[in-house]
Amino acid sequence: MDRIAITGGVRLEGEIPISGAKNSAIKLMAASLLTDEPLRLTNMPRLADTRFLGRLLQRLGADLVESDGVDGPETVLRTKEIVSAIAPYDLVRQMRASFNVLGPLLARTGQAKVSLPGGCTIGARPVDLHLKALEALGAQIDLHEGYVYAQAPRGLRGATIAFPFVSVGATEHALLAAVLAEGETVLENAACEPEIVDLADCLNKMGASISGAGTPSIRIKGVARLGGASHAVIPDRIETGTYALAAAMAGGEVRLTNTRADLIEALLDKMTEAGAEVTRHNDGVTVKRNGARLRAVEIETDPYPGFATDLQAQFMALMTLADGESVVRETIFENRFMHAPELRRLGADITVSGGEARVRGVDALEGAPVMATDLRASVSLVIAGLAARGETMVNRVYHLDRGFERLEEKLGACGAQVRRIVGDGEPED
Ligand code: EPZ
Repeated sequence: MDRIAITGGVRLEGEIPISGAKNSAIKLMAASLLTDEPLRLTNMPRLADTRFLGRLLQRLGADLVESDGVDGPETVLRTKEIVSAIAPYDLVRQMRASFNVLGPLLARTGQAKVSLPGGCTIGARPVDLHLKALEALGAQIDLHEGYVYAQAPRGLRGATIAFPFVSVGATEHALLAAVLAEGETVLENAACEPEIVDLADCLNKMGASISGAGTPSIRIKGVARLGGASHAVIPDRIETGTYALAAAMAGGEVRLTNTRADLIEALLDKMTEAGAEVTRHNDGVTVKRNGARLRAVEIETDPYPGFATDLQAQFMALMTLADGESVVRETIFENRFMHAPELRRLGADITVSGGEARVRGVDALEGAPVMATDLRASVSLVIAGLAARGETMVNRVYHLDRGFERLEEKLGACGAQVRRIVGDGEPED
């Protein structure tokens, strides 16, 4: 398998264009199942996860055409007919967001059989809220042998759904199902993430009637059918934040373009508090750190607009070299500190207790072979490697390829010594 080698100690200078958001793109792709007309998505990231979902959608009946148009990378999806309403275990197991085809399949055909995703390395990640939302909309749900069998022979009906806590996936799933339901649906305590707003914007372009996306209360007036549309995927806020943290870690000055600073305000506030220089622009943000050591600051992950859990590992990497002790609290996932022992292998001083990690800044990190079990944890090791002495070898790069497009090229353009070592295809462990 491929590995990434980083020789640390080089300041970053230059510009990084940010790609479209993975976590938006995959839900928008699922939305294409709701119509028999073409959905054209521009600013599409080219990632393992989008390729993977594309293959699942093709199995369900979608035609998929990728190209590089004037508006950048685009994908046109068209499902004239659903040829299969089944998402098998093998596919859902590999990417849990595949589960989100359940709602659109049910809304369009009145039935679906989709594998339960199971847990993952960052937590148990149940889908009970997704299923309760679909039931509230009138679906009959049965669980057998690891599969969800859902039926709504007479169609879905609007309902009021009050989520007991904020779930991005369940909010998106309810949206995807309710747009074609009869009558009005109200989602209370809905997630406010920018990806929800992006999904609602796209669905509205397709003919849906959704208001309030981006607030905790979303109102959906069901429509009889949706049509085709053209929609640009929002910038990836996690990629933006990750490279902002990379610049602060390595030092130097990096301008992040084709993105929006307002998507990562909670992070930028913390970076400023720590002593990094942050300048917001119309098309993104510049991060600068010249010489001086950063200060330790505390963070707690929270639903948007709070500090994103998907940036927690990268922020922890930054804190390993800060002056003082930082406390990092993870409130979204119960097992999201898998990067801590790997960062310790580079010389970091971190202790984890429950949902809290204490990071005491050290004077230097030293390169070592490391690996991680999820996407954001893996990239936190790349960030640490940028400032470590000597060489850091990050194994299991397939995690990175799921969510970061051309990572070594983007960092390399700013001077980072990052190279991919192509593997021999042998699995590593
Ligand atoms: C999305 O996951 C993202 N994934 C995650 O990014 C992100 O970390 C997360 O939102 C939080 O921002 C995608 O968009 C594909 P949740 P999601 O439902 O929707 C619990 C990455 O690295 N929960 O908001 O699955 C759940 O276990 C990934 O790109 C239930 O208990 O997150 C968690 O503790 C990782 N029952 C909490 O809610 C449910 O039915 C929040 O999860 C659903 C969720």
